[in-house]
Amino acid sequence: MKIISVVGARPNFMKIAPFCKALAEYPNVRHILVHTGQHYDVRMSDSFFTDLEIPEPDIHLNIGSGSHAEQVGRTMIEFEKVVKIERPDWIVVVGDVNATCACSIVAKKEHIKLAHIEAGLRSGDIDMPEEVNRLVTDRLADLLLTPDRISNANLKAEGVSDKRIAFVGNIMIDTLEAQRLKAASRSIEEIVQRELLESHDFPELLDNNFAVMTMHRPSNVDQIETLKPLTDFLTDEVAKDMPLLWPIHPRARKQLEAFNLWEKVKDNIILLNPLGYHDMLRLNMGAKVMLTDSGGLQEECCVLGTPCLTMRWNTERPVTLKEYGGASLLVGNDVKKIRAAYCKVLHEQRNPQRPELWDGHTAKRIVKMILEYGEEQ
Ligand code: UD1
Repeated sequence: MKIISVVGARPNFMKIAPFCKALAEYPNVRHILVHTGQHYDVRMSDSFFTDLEIPEPDIHLNIGSGSHAEQVGRTMIEFEKVVKIERPDWIVVVGDVNATCACSIVAKKEHIKLAHIEAGLRSGDIDMPEEVNRLVTDRLADLLLTPDRISNANLKAEGVSDKRIAFVGNIMIDTLEAQRLKAASRSIEEIVQRELLESHDFPELLDNNFAVMTMHRPSNVDQIETLKPLTDFLTDEVAKDMPLLWPIHPRARKQLEAFNLWEKVKDNIILLNPLGYHDMLRLNMGAKVMLTDSGGLQEECCVLGTPCLTMRWNTERPVTLKEYGGASLLVGNDVKKIRAAYCKVLHEQRNPQRPELWDGHTAKRIVKMILEYGEEQ
């Protein structure tokens, strides 16, 4: 059997690492790893291959940045060439980035079986580029590998037959469990000193005396009317209470500079380079509170128990919310709402939770499902 798996952007890498490892147990399966190159910086891409021991990609499409249509279009053109030569039995895509959607379309136009890892997530917000990618990918996939039962229900509500759906758990948690000891052994001070973007004085950083934030979504950073009040709250309130660490995504940095917000942010918030996997996990393990618009961090906070304020109005990962036993609260980008929730969670303790099958063994289940697919049909 021949399988092509695809990665493109940062959140894909921690999902493909356990899949590659689980597949390596089957020497009869030829595995070709394709990197579309949507993310290309050392810190956004290469460092994850090294840190998570992901094999060097067999094929690199070098797509790079651009508008959504440019990224998806260029990826389809280049990936089609690969598929026509390789003719795999399966194409496996993960997550919801542009690479996921582009390669799914190519797979089905080339009549190749398609498996989607992390299927069935729905934010209900079609303005989110990732929601478009999820809908397209799940409509096309032959095998929908879901991380939780809510995702199964979403797919069923869309009319997907049970035969195409397999509840396997959350593959990102395989990576978290495999790497948590290594992350725990790191020193927060050492990480911050090493990754500091602008010189900054700060007190001793101890577990539970600092906050961590990430913010990069277009809905939060692309308009000054949204970004300015958010950064004012973060600099004038959160950063006054405790050191606030922000490993900053290139998109957010660009927007802060364009809107003349960079100076104030850098003077008040401890800005860091985009972090490698273990460094970010270590900061999350020690944070008093996480403020984020990332999807993956909501999941990691849930398992680590870090109180998490999700700066979005919706989430495709409701299982991580407090109402489902998780650690995260949806606070949108309205400062009043964020402040109220922030004041409340400051008095809370870490409360780790483990949703069903987030047990570190998801990749093995996935590989088995793919290899046994069709046997009983
Ligand atoms: C993408 C994903 C998003 C994910 C995020 C994590 C889609 C639709 N979105 O968004 O779901 O949360 O990755 O990082 O696929 N850039 C660099 N270096 C890089 C890559 C990008 O500087 O290695 C800059 C470029 O200026 C680029 C911008 O970041 O234009 C945005 O990158 P892009 O991949 O288009 O989208 P993300 O916002 O990263």
